[in-house]
Amino acid sequence: MINFYKATDLAKQILIENVENKNISVDFTLGRGNDTLFLSENFKSVYAFDIQKECIEDFEKRNIENVKLIFDSHENVDKHLQFFDCGMYNLGYLPQGNKTITTLKTSTITSLTKASNMLNIGGFISIILYVGHDQGKEESLAVLDFCRGLDNKNFNVAYLNFINKNFPPSLVLINKVR
Ligand SMILES: C[S@@+](CC[C@H](N)C(=O)[O-])C[C@H]1O[C@@H](n2cnc3c(N)ncnc32)[C@H](O)[C@@H]1O
Repeated sequence: MINFYKATDLAKQILIENVENKNISVDFTLGRGNDTLFLSENFKSVYAFDIQKECIEDFEKRNIENVKLIFDSHENVDKHLQFFDCGMYNLGYLPQGNKTITTLKTSTITSLTKASNMLNIGGFISIILYVGHDQGKEESLAVLDFCRGLDNKNFNVAYLNFINKNFPPSLVLINKVR
């Protein structure tokens, strides 16, 4: 049964069930590595991006063979790979980390523009949005605007929100169909 408690868990369950090919995956925001770990257990390979050296070094210690760690902004995704089947964004700042280092509207939209072109047919991108802080609100609005603009001949896009909670993280799913 699907666990409806957290947007992050919901994303993982939907991705496992629905991504057609479990080959190349991308974690666009490595952070503490929970999503990268999930991807490494379910996909042949993972590319994981973060702009904080600490996140890269922490994950490196786990020595997981099918994960390629990339110390670069996700807006440069096209410099590191060509296509992928599944991508995860968990926006905002690192929990228990430096709150001033956060994903930003402009680079996130650049990254999403590239990622939606690089996504294989049958693939999915999940995005966790946070509206609990000002930067997050602004970024969330920009991401939702971007997603609304995706051509519905090529993409199905769904938006899931826990509407009986205060400022809950929400989930966007992008599925490329053609
Ligand atoms: C909410 S945390 C990610 C949580 C993570 N997925 C996990 O499982 O712990 C957001 C992360 O995005 C990173 N980040 C911020 N801007 C970025 C960018 N332009 N490119 C890549 N990572 C970025 C931050 O350093 C932070 O580690």
